[in-house]
Amino acid sequence: MNKKTGVKILGTGSYFPKKILTNADLEKMVDTNDEWITTRTGMKERHIAAPEEVTSDLALGASLEALKAAKIDASQIDLILVSTITSDMFFPTTACYLQTKLGLKDIPAYDLLAACSGFIYGLANAKAYIESGMYKTILLVGADILSRITDWTDRNTCVLFGDGAGAIVLTASEEDDDIVSVSLGADGSYSPLLYMYGGGSVCPATAESVAAKHHTMTMHGKEVFRNAVPKMVLAAEQALEKSGKKLEDIKLFIPHQANMRIIEAVAKKLNIPMDSVFINIHKTGNISSATTITALDEAIKTGKIKKGELAVLVAFGGGFTWGGAVIRV
Ligand SMILES: CC(C)(COP(=O)(O)OP(=O)(O)OC[C@H]1O[C@@H](n2cnc3c(N)ncnc32)[C@H](O)[C@@H]1OP(=O)(O)O)[C@@H](O)C(=O)NCCC(=O)NCCS
Repeated sequence: MNKKTGVKILGTGSYFPKKILTNADLEKMVDTNDEWITTRTGMKERHIAAPEEVTSDLALGASLEALKAAKIDASQIDLILVSTITSDMFFPTTACYLQTKLGLKDIPAYDLLAACSGFIYGLANAKAYIESGMYKTILLVGADILSRITDWTDRNTCVLFGDGAGAIVLTASEEDDDIVSVSLGADGSYSPLLYMYGGGSVCPATAESVAAKHHTMTMHGKEVFRNAVPKMVLAAEQALEKSGKKLEDIKLFIPHQANMRIIEAVAKKLNIPMDSVFINIHKTGNISSATTITALDEAIKTGKIKKGELAVLVAFGGGFTWGGAVIRV
């Protein structure tokens, strides 16, 4: 019998826009304060894209860094996947723009959308493609410019989000199996709790829809919080069960960085000590698709997780969607 094709992580990368928006800056924009934002969310600052920067620019920055870490040329990629809720345009896809910016042609490129769980959904896609033999080397990117769909007069949401991109290069391997397991879930009945009403077939753009701010995010924070905790716990448990690994085997828990209190509650329920939990929420805010991959990249670069060690990635987002993955760095 032929040996099963595994997935090897070749390299990761991140890109953050230069501009940093601090809690003090937000105090000048809406009725909020550093103490409220810090105690309720754990956030201190977030990156904000420059007016001329678009999502594929951030994706390109992260991709070039990931390719450098992978020590391969862009021409070796045979599929580009981009997870985003803030694509350059409604269509064509950000993945197509990224393909051109990387100087590539002809290889398939598409976006996928699962809100803040999008990167984990992307991992599942990439793993399946590689294991089936359909594609060999995949560039998977999580990129979002949430500042473009934020209502900057709404203190309930505008303090929570930021911009950034992360990328990973994955390839087929006979020896390694770094994406040990991925587990996904969704429950569309919760869509009224976190959404952007305008821009799709329900509410095409009109002068009225823009005036009503339908092209910015709407979120029912408390209910989202209440659901995020059990679903992230479930995602971690299911990914662990699929992997055949135990929590004791895991070096680092890398959760979606949506709220420090959500992260603490999930860690407590899973019985994971906080010093085994990766946190960068204070520097990034919630960057949706980019969150788990930029966190993984930083954890690798800062030595919080070393070659051969296992991490659990967990995310939750609008839809609702959720996902967990056990990976070997
Ligand atoms: C949004 C969130 C931080 C709010 O925290 P909370 O403890 O639930 O706060 P509440 O919504 O109960 O609001 C408490 C009070 O703070 C106020 N408030 C909200 N945002 C504020 C801000 N930025 N500054 C100061 N006060 C604020 C509210 O208006 C409310 O005031 P009121 O009691 O006078 O009505 C929290 O619910 C959350 O993080 N939810 C999940 C969000 C999320 O993860 N989204 C993405 C999913 S991927």
